[in-house]
Amino acid sequence: MRVAFGADHAGWELKNALADAARAAGHEVVDLGAHDGGSVDYPDFGAAVGRAVTTGEADRGVLVCGTGIGISIAANKVAGVRAAVAHDDFTARYSRLHNDANVLCLGSRVVGPGVAEAVLATFLATAFEGGRHARRVEKIAELEEQS
Ligand code: RB5
Repeated sequence: MRVAFGADHAGWELKNALADAARAAGHEVVDLGAHDGGSVDYPDFGAAVGRAVTTGEADRGVLVCGTGIGISIAANKVAGVRAAVAHDDFTARYSRLHNDANVLCLGSRVVGPGVAEAVLATFLATAFEGGRHARRVEKIAELEEQS
């Protein structure tokens, strides 16, 4: 799978660790920065990774900021992005099974690299269940068309 990664200054180190873990698991990584701890604005990276996913440059996206929240709000403004904040296995699994989440968001000030890598592995390995959930995901897309 081709996975785009992005982070702000709070998340860049965890982002690098997650990108390394993804490479080690055989995924192709597109690293859209940040590449150091200089102060940057998380919406820029949320947008870049969101667009990489919706244009097909990447199959999935992974974003890291301090909490995972700001960068998820930004990514979800890109039409077609379904970004989910997940810090545990259950929510990572169900973000894929029921919501077909295409971007995973993590907070570097919330979880350490071990938990984050386990969450990422679940997110990348879990397929969308479809069925009744497809109708609901389609309704999310309709909301984008209406706004
Ligand atoms: C940066 O200090 C912090 O606000 C940002 O990483 C993120 O947590 C915002 O939601």
